[in-house]
Amino acid sequence: MRKAIAFLSSLLVIILAILIITHVDTSVSARNYPQDNESIARGAQLYDDWSKILPNVIVPNGNHLLWSRQTNNTRTGEDTWKCATCHGWDYQGKDGAFKSGSNATGFPGILEKSKSTETEIVAILKGGNDPQHNFSSLLADEDLSDIAAFIKNGLIDDNEFIDLITRKVISGNLDNGKSKYEGECATCHGLNGTDLVFRYEGSEISLGTLAVQDPWRFLHRTRFGTARASDMPLGVNLGWTAQDGRDVLYYVQTNLPTGLETTASSPVEITPIENQGGPARNLWTGILTAFGAMGISLGFAILLGAVFIGIILLIVWLIRSRQS
Ligand code: HEC
Ligand code: HEC
Repeated sequence: MRKAIAFLSSLLVIILAILIITHVDTSVSARNYPQDNESIARGAQLYDDWSKILPNVIVPNGNHLLWSRQTNNTRTGEDTWKCATCHGWDYQGKDGAFKSGSNATGFPGILEKSKSTETEIVAILKGGNDPQHNFSSLLADEDLSDIAAFIKNGLIDDNEFIDLITRKVISGNLDNGKSKYEGECATCHGLNGTDLVFRYEGSEISLGTLAVQDPWRFLHRTRFGTARASDMPLGVNLGWTAQDGRDVLYYVQTNLPTGLETTASSPVEITPIENQGGPARNLWTGILTAFGAMGISLGFAILLGAVFIGIILLIVWLIRSRQS
């Protein structure tokens, strides 16, 4: 009888151990870094301006049909066919940088769609949810699947790290930004960022000005490139992390001429967005998430342990009472 008790209790201890091990959830959610960089970067550039990537596709005349659902944004024609015009460089549409000001359309962001499958995203682009949102006569299946790969794997939410009023990076590593900028970017853009100029809202601006005016477009194009710069090294191919991109942006905002030094003009004011929660974004929230998960699992394990000890005691008591 003793043997039977010993056997039963060790069996229970083993079951308990297995339950505890399988229940302690140590995985802290982290973004899977893009695997297929080529199609993600191409998708990102199509999102930026598909007409530049697909020179043989003619942008239809007039405004996109959906454009008439809003009146605030007065852009017309070609611009209204670009994904970024409606959904934003921060991918957050009406909840992000395009919340107010002349860019505002009230159209939704696409950040949440990174949780959908690529098939579901392609369906949206073929008008599955809304027949007016059908791009299949302009974009081939290959293009749509690259865009889906970008939405699935390439979207980065930077708005926790950028002050939405000043548009400055909240905290970054200037040394890292400087060495990356000088190592990879200065050959073309110049040490001051003034060797190349870009069209922005009707004027010619340098990299520093872009960095303070539209940090989101800066980050998107630094990570994934732009059709106008086929030789430019892409952050995603250099193996840069999301923070590396922000460090370079921070350095350019802080140390390069921005054009704001001399004029009184300041960026348009934007009301801040509340933290939307979601997976852990930095070490600290990561640690908290891990502790949270362990806490829950530990509580569960203790509860289970108590139940099993109770069962063992019950068995022992039953056997004892039979023997006597
Ligand atoms: C003229 C504005 C406009 C353009 C251009 C546009 N969209 Fe949209 N998009 C919308 C609107 C409005 C909705 C929501 C209603 C709907 O589905 O039509 C939407 C919905 C979406 C959604 C689903 C969002 C959700 O949460 O349901 C995704 C993903 C999306 N668009 C991606 C794209 C991509 C990629 C492009 C470029 C190929 C693009 N959109 C071009 C206006 C636009
Ligand atoms: C081989 C030359 C080259 C290198 C190196 C290079 N760029 Fe560029 N970059 C360009 C060209 C060309 C353009 C497009 C100019 C235009 O719009 O006419 C551009 C455009 C950009 C833009 C988009 C500007 C806009 O209009 O929105 C950003 C942002 C940018 N570069 C950042 C960087 C960063 C950051 C690096 C370092 C990783 C870098 N570039 C390295 C050539 C280069």
